[in-house]
Amino acid sequence: MSVPSRPKAEVLSPEQKASLVTGASFWETRALPEAGVRGLLLTDGPHGLRLQVGEADHLGAHASVPATCFPPAVTLAASFDPDLAERVGGALGGEARSHGVDVLLGPGINIKRSPLCGRNFEYYSEDPLLSGVLGAAWVRGLQSQGVGASVKHFAANNQETDRLRSSSDVDPRALREIYLRAFERVVREAAPATVMCSYNRINGVYASEDPWLLTRVLREEWGYEGVVVSDWGAVGDRVRSLRAGLDLEMPASARSVSAVNVALCEGALDESVLDSSVDRILALVRKTEGAALAPVDLEEHHALAQEVAARGIVLLKNDDDLLPLRPDQQLAVIGEFARTPRYQGAGSSLVNPTRLDCVLDLLRGATPAVDVPFAAGFSLDDADAAAEEALLREAVAVARTAEVVLLMLGLPPAAESEGRDRMHLSLPRAQLRVLAAVREVCDHVVVAVSNGGVVDLSFGEDVPALLECWLGGQAGAAGLLDVLYGRVNPSGRLAETVPLRLEDTPSYLDFPGELGHTRYGEGVHVGYRWYDGRRLGVRYPFGHGLSYTHFSYRDLEVRAGAQRVTVSFTLTNTGPVAGREVAQVYASLPLSVVRRAPRELRGFASVELESGESRRIEIAVDRGELAYWDHRIDAWIVEGGDYSVEVGASSRDIRLSATLAITGDPVRIPLSLDSTLGEVLPDPLIGERVRHELDGFLAQFDELTLQGLLSLPVGRVATFPGVDSTPERVAALLAEANAAHSGPR
Ligand code: GLC
Repeated sequence: MSVPSRPKAEVLSPEQKASLVTGASFWETRALPEAGVRGLLLTDGPHGLRLQVGEADHLGAHASVPATCFPPAVTLAASFDPDLAERVGGALGGEARSHGVDVLLGPGINIKRSPLCGRNFEYYSEDPLLSGVLGAAWVRGLQSQGVGASVKHFAANNQETDRLRSSSDVDPRALREIYLRAFERVVREAAPATVMCSYNRINGVYASEDPWLLTRVLREEWGYEGVVVSDWGAVGDRVRSLRAGLDLEMPASARSVSAVNVALCEGALDESVLDSSVDRILALVRKTEGAALAPVDLEEHHALAQEVAARGIVLLKNDDDLLPLRPDQQLAVIGEFARTPRYQGAGSSLVNPTRLDCVLDLLRGATPAVDVPFAAGFSLDDADAAAEEALLREAVAVARTAEVVLLMLGLPPAAESEGRDRMHLSLPRAQLRVLAAVREVCDHVVVAVSNGGVVDLSFGEDVPALLECWLGGQAGAAGLLDVLYGRVNPSGRLAETVPLRLEDTPSYLDFPGELGHTRYGEGVHVGYRWYDGRRLGVRYPFGHGLSYTHFSYRDLEVRAGAQRVTVSFTLTNTGPVAGREVAQVYASLPLSVVRRAPRELRGFASVELESGESRRIEIAVDRGELAYWDHRIDAWIVEGGDYSVEVGASSRDIRLSATLAITGDPVRIPLSLDSTLGEVLPDPLIGERVRHELDGFLAQFDELTLQGLLSLPVGRVATFPGVDSTPERVAALLAEANAAHSGPR
């Protein structure tokens, strides 16, 4: 049989097809050399290649080849810079391609519903616009190298607790406006080669077996044509998942291949369903073949990792401009993280770095003639009280000698990981004791925190300078020193709110759920939407971040076009040094038919300006970004009204604002017997006729009293005593109106 150059499902046997829709090994799909079908190699992860050539696992337990460990998503997100995200994606694509990897399993774009989620380090933000824009950019970068992406975890996978079974119970608006929104943007704007379905259930249905999610929404509404791949081990019933639209089960499962063959033989599975998945997998094989295994420049990638680490650092406090440091200042370094960097998260994304910087070595290497006193201060393991006390005393002794102390705190690797959630936001007690003791003997303490999930930063009140470094990747130490010494002016902004207390967080009473269910009780009010809506104080707001310079905003203009709103303003660097500002555009509709947050991020721009430089900035906001999801008609609706449009340096540092009148979409809810008198009587076509049908009841009331009855469903009134009509006659009139309104406009 001649091997077709571009095989299609119809030339393959049922058995061949059944073998293609389930993995052939932990990381590979089935090859069919006799049919000219190459096997695909898929592997993690979102911030570095985790390619295993020996034992395979999906939790980072076994070795993987050396690869550049970029800062994880939590850090990249703080840059608010899609161009940077695209560059990282491109570099990862180059490394993946150089090892013959066809699909790299990222980006992770799940929304940060609670700061306790163990995988927040691997995700971007509490905001769907920021998550979607950065995720799409990362995918474009990766796929520009001929490597397929796998945007994950689709969908509503916002906790690690019981993640393979728990049901995320989410209302339609929150699902569409918050939890699916970033996926929709990535799919529509970047066409990822694959979408990875999540482990969990959504409103009781496993994502891997949900036709509404995988076919109706993903393919029919969003037009997705790529491959849906399962998370590793997410498939329970392979036949049911195939019917739902899950093309590729990973990893290998002989049981699944057999189940598909049996279902085909017994007529329980239509072969056309199998063919659709096989054709999509064959298309992916074709799409990823041929890209040259170009060598990569790992030094260049290390430099990019350093740039990202510095760009992701958020300067939260800088009293009396203590930062940037001067090289002549007598600096002491305290904290085990200066010697043992906390630079990435644990689990399936774990990277074996090509090299790893630490602050202490870099400082001592930079000034070999100058001693850099160091004390660990605390242990990353559980040290006994005596050992802890000794470490603390040593730290105090070192701090006494210093003009400035760099104190490096953070979450130990064991504190946060894929597979489990945190129970609280505090740093380890031993670290806080060291901070308090050091503060007793030194006024100039700069605290740098390394953590993947938001932590309680209340200790920051006691120090003059505080930097949130997130997880810096293999070059994080160099990135931090670039910021500390002013070689890089910090421009990171918070992509997640830092709350005053865990109890204030939106999901506090519903995380991580109970008895197999997690109620998303906060609805659309996630992150800053919640704190702003409830007028809660926060430690540091979404979008916040300081600089070594300052920026002013002026001359706001807002214009509404047919397809988009254009927001323009003049941004000026009014400070002494060049710097980068992340200007943010927020919008809302104060008088809305639905409950909206006081402001929602609708656009942003990361702008580099020289000292004294001004630039006119223009940010376009697609009209659709203003829409709410109307579950009554399963559609996005842009409401008419006077929108609030704000421009600021953070969600709570609004510099300019305006009101903008927007013409809304016509909304017509089909009439039914449950429609009320208030909804039916005004109808121009049938309103008077329905009033006539119901006169036996209505005629007895004056107009004022009638106003109080408008919430009565017409179907109920049609059965009232005295009414000479029937629900059926009223229903016929309603159907006439619906037909007329749904016809050509
Ligand atoms: C893991 C993760 C997923 C990863 C996959 C393969 O369980 O949920 O993000 O890509 O399995 O390791």
